[in-house]
Amino acid sequence: MKRYKDIAGDGGSNIAGQVEAQQGRLRQRLESVRAVVAIVSGKGGVGKSTLTASLACSFALDGWKVGVLDADLNGPTQAKVLGVRGRRLAIVDGVVEPPSTSLGVKVMSMDLLLPTDAAPLTWDAPLQDEAHTWRGAMEANALREFLADTAWGALDLLLVDLPPGTDRLATVTGLLPVLGGTVIVTIPSDVSHLVVRKSITVATQAKAPVLGLVENMTGMFRGPAGVDLAREAGIPFLGSVPFDPELALAADRGEAFVATAPTRDSARALADIARAIRASLLATRG
Ligand SMILES: Nc1ncnc2c1ncn2[C@@H]1O[C@H](COP(=O)(O)OP(=O)(O)O)[C@@H](O)[C@H]1O
Ligand SMILES: [Mg+2]
Repeated sequence: MKRYKDIAGDGGSNIAGQVEAQQGRLRQRLESVRAVVAIVSGKGGVGKSTLTASLACSFALDGWKVGVLDADLNGPTQAKVLGVRGRRLAIVDGVVEPPSTSLGVKVMSMDLLLPTDAAPLTWDAPLQDEAHTWRGAMEANALREFLADTAWGALDLLLVDLPPGTDRLATVTGLLPVLGGTVIVTIPSDVSHLVVRKSITVATQAKAPVLGLVENMTGMFRGPAGVDLAREAGIPFLGSVPFDPELALAADRGEAFVATAPTRDSARALADIARAIRASLLATRG
């Protein structure tokens, strides 16, 4: 492989042209998607993926056509949580057909592409020292390919599950001119609020509206309330999801908890949050 230091200009490979073509395909692919919403939190382990999957199932139960893009390339979980792990991908003319869950949620995840369980995704940098610098660019490339080469079809909503890190939203907003909004997730702890406050700053600076803050795992700790963080930051508060071990077990089984245990407090809270997001999306759509 040529190294960038060896290449004069773009070495004749017309990389700029390739990216432009891909960006065009991406725009075309997303023309049939009415709204894209990113689920973000600078903090890991707060329940972004659980919330993304549960919201997708709630929207599907309400009759919306929904897709989930697992943008966590290094720690993908959506295929597992949504119960499509191990499904074979159909590739037609270089375009991937995303598998559908029993509720009809379409899922695209690195997990469906990686050959083995144990190997993480590694970036092919010339030197390990450079892997960090390359990661951001490679991640953006991989996501652009995911978006451009997946046949989402007509969707009312595409939810994007982001990896932790306050910088990740910028990568996605750069790729998604159609981003309809962001949902920010925290848990009731000072440590989480410390990081999530930064995520709120990044999200409010993005062009897409902040649909609101969700507090997850309520009751697990006696920490500061998410509703206060939302008020202080001047963003809507979308609701609290109680800590519920049954929800975690359902996620491990790849089961749509909002469908299988709809009367459970955590499932009700998730359905209410989905309704609040839906109302907000419909309001901004006008
Ligand atoms: N409200 C909740 N009650 C109990 N367990 C939860 C809840 N929300 C998430 N979990 C569990 O916490 C763990 C981390 O959640 P996950 O969605 O993977 O977080 P993130 O995507 O932010 O890293 C998972 O095992 C998940 O099942
Ligand atoms: Mg996650």
